[in-house]
Amino acid sequence: MVDIGTLVDSKQGLINPLIYTDPALYQLELDRVFGRSWLFLAHESQLPNRGSFVQTYMGEDPVLVVRQRDASVKAFLNQCRHRGMRICRADAGTNKTFTCSYHGWAYDLEGNLINVPLEERAYHNQIDKSQWGATKVPRVQSYKGFYFGTWSDEVPEFEEYLGEMKYYFDAAVDRWDNGLEFVKGATKWVIDCNWKFAAEQFTSDMYHAPISHASAMVALFEDPAMRSLFDPSPHDQGRQFAGHGHGTGSMGIPEFGPDILAGPEYSAWQIANRDQVYNRLGTDRAHKIMIHNNIFPNFSWLGTASTMRVWHPRGPGQIEVWAWTYVPKDAPESARKGVREVTQRTFSPAGVFETDDGENWTEIQQVMRGWKARSTLFNAQMGLGFEQRDYPGMPGMSNDLYSEMGARGFYQRWQDLMKNLSWKEIAELDAQRRAAEQEVQPA
Ligand code: FES
Repeated sequence: MVDIGTLVDSKQGLINPLIYTDPALYQLELDRVFGRSWLFLAHESQLPNRGSFVQTYMGEDPVLVVRQRDASVKAFLNQCRHRGMRICRADAGTNKTFTCSYHGWAYDLEGNLINVPLEERAYHNQIDKSQWGATKVPRVQSYKGFYFGTWSDEVPEFEEYLGEMKYYFDAAVDRWDNGLEFVKGATKWVIDCNWKFAAEQFTSDMYHAPISHASAMVALFEDPAMRSLFDPSPHDQGRQFAGHGHGTGSMGIPEFGPDILAGPEYSAWQIANRDQVYNRLGTDRAHKIMIHNNIFPNFSWLGTASTMRVWHPRGPGQIEVWAWTYVPKDAPESARKGVREVTQRTFSPAGVFETDDGENWTEIQQVMRGWKARSTLFNAQMGLGFEQRDYPGMPGMSNDLYSEMGARGFYQRWQDLMKNLSWKEIAELDAQRRAAEQEVQPA
């Protein structure tokens, strides 16, 4: 096993490509990164009734997320304790119990084992069913309609884990008086790349957009003004937040609403309801689009395209993307239609921008099949030493959208977890790094 401490150097902005390819590191990642972080499980709109459930993954572990009889939400490993078959094979639905399709062991909504076929004859009434329930996800927390879970009893509470990213998450999820919801129907697809390429890009990377998406912008828009959407100069200098491994990039918008793509009905609805947003977020935050966003490790969203997604890891060289369109709960169908269409047109398996991104990540993964290529260091030095967190009123916001401080923070958090530092040690190091960062700021 390579020395994890040498794989990432966030002070120098250097990345060893082994972190994207090495099978042993990947197995360690499942345990130390995915096993010790808060992971997105579901949105409340996916669990409307008692007994509603969705199947998802925490890393590679399949889990069932279930609305309980008392309306709380619990989660457990979707693995039968008899021989390990999935307890439930449906993606989503409403159940009173879950019965394994192999030999018929049955579980209640909390994952407790409640019935074993032929219990008297085959087990001689000796099986203690209370000992053979599904493995529970010990901590599930609800934040503004979003459920996150963790296997770790050590990771801080979810709000503390978010840190300053809470300000930016709220800008997306706490925007409307009646909240938001996921449009029914997830889109799911596979990309042959390491999960960190996707997560890092959504944390930190606006730099690629005017280049990678240039052709798609021309193909999608006749209006030259629209083609400059990814160029921050006409709108604002652009800013970037990075902290605790999370990240976002924001641009200012001259008029209200992140709706330039979503059509006149949605624009009109937003303008008619904009006082809600001003009251909830303040005018400054309301006039920012948080474009790319990632909550470490693998929950991302795009403020411009109303898509939220999880990059489920599937080995060092593959991910399964699960993506949803989100809309304000109160928006009428005519307005939602524009949002749904623009999400599918831009960031979906067939979306013009999504395919650009997937092509980049797949190609990089292919290049790293070469032994020389996967031992040649990557440069993550953009903006190094020039970061200034000086934007008034926006916590931790830096001075430039074109910077890789988010990427460096993402890989630093990854490395801290991979080194198996305790969360207490990580918090102390984070504080020291932030203090050092203040010291190197230009006067
Ligand atoms: Fe589930 Fe046998 S594996 S009942």
